[in-house]
Amino acid sequence: MHCLISRAVFRRIFHSIMVHLTASILRLHLLLLPALSFAAGKGDLSFNRDIRPILADACFHCHGPDPGTRKAGLRLDTEGGFFDPKSGPTVVRGDAAKSPLYQRLISQDPDEVMPPPESHKTLKSAEIALIKQWIEQGAPWQPHWSLIPPQRPAVPAVKDRNWVANPVDAFVLAKLEAAGLQPAPPADAHTLIRRLSLDITGLPPGPDLIQRFATAPRLDPAAQRQLVDELLKSPAYGEHRARY
Ligand code: HEC
Repeated sequence: MHCLISRAVFRRIFHSIMVHLTASILRLHLLLLPALSFAAGKGDLSFNRDIRPILADACFHCHGPDPGTRKAGLRLDTEGGFFDPKSGPTVVRGDAAKSPLYQRLISQDPDEVMPPPESHKTLKSAEIALIKQWIEQGAPWQPHWSLIPPQRPAVPAVKDRNWVANPVDAFVLAKLEAAGLQPAPPADAHTLIRRLSLDITGLPPGPDLIQRFATAPRLDPAAQRQLVDELLKSPAYGEHRARY
């Protein structure tokens, strides 16, 4: 009995997270993407958000976790690899000119430059500039995000408070407003049913689902919740999850 109750509670919490997330994903119009990349050029850089992805793509093959492909004994996936390898630091905090890692990125010598030409990888000048900026900001390192305990951020203030239906929306809208972009208008019922169905089950909605839910131009919040609950109950939801 006890077990049944906690399962029911778990289901409710999980459903409510799914509904909120799905609603927010639906609001997260593609326009947000340029807004996110804007953010990187300004202010304090984050190693995990701004720097690690560049190194993971261009360097980890030869300087990452796999000892079989590692070159020069250098790891750029560990803190030690940046600041205290045996051959001396690869990055000198606050000083790009003294940091071998940065010098390797801007070298004109094909025997020196990283990534090496034969790797067919190149860094964009904006990426090199980010790495320089990060070193000059003192090269703050972070472990992989999965090892950092999550902290609840403050919900950002936004101008158009009416648009915010749940706190996640405030994060989306704050970025849009910072980039001077307008959120897309709410989707009509047909579009929303199709998106929810594809998102939750991986399948387009059947005619029955459309007939029952698309009775007005827009889905009201109660109908949205009911539709999400129904899609979550469908075996296709589990099949879709199992593919990941
Ligand atoms: C295809 C493999 C390959 C890739 C990709 C690669 N490197 Fe290298 N790297 C090497 C090799 C081989 C050496 C040793 C030869 C040399 O010093 O040029 C080296 C040496 C280095 C050194 C000097 C290490 C020392 O102890 O002197 C640094 C710093 C470096 N790489 C940084 C990078 C960075 C940063 C990237 C990504 C932007 C990168 N490498 C991508 C193969 C690679």
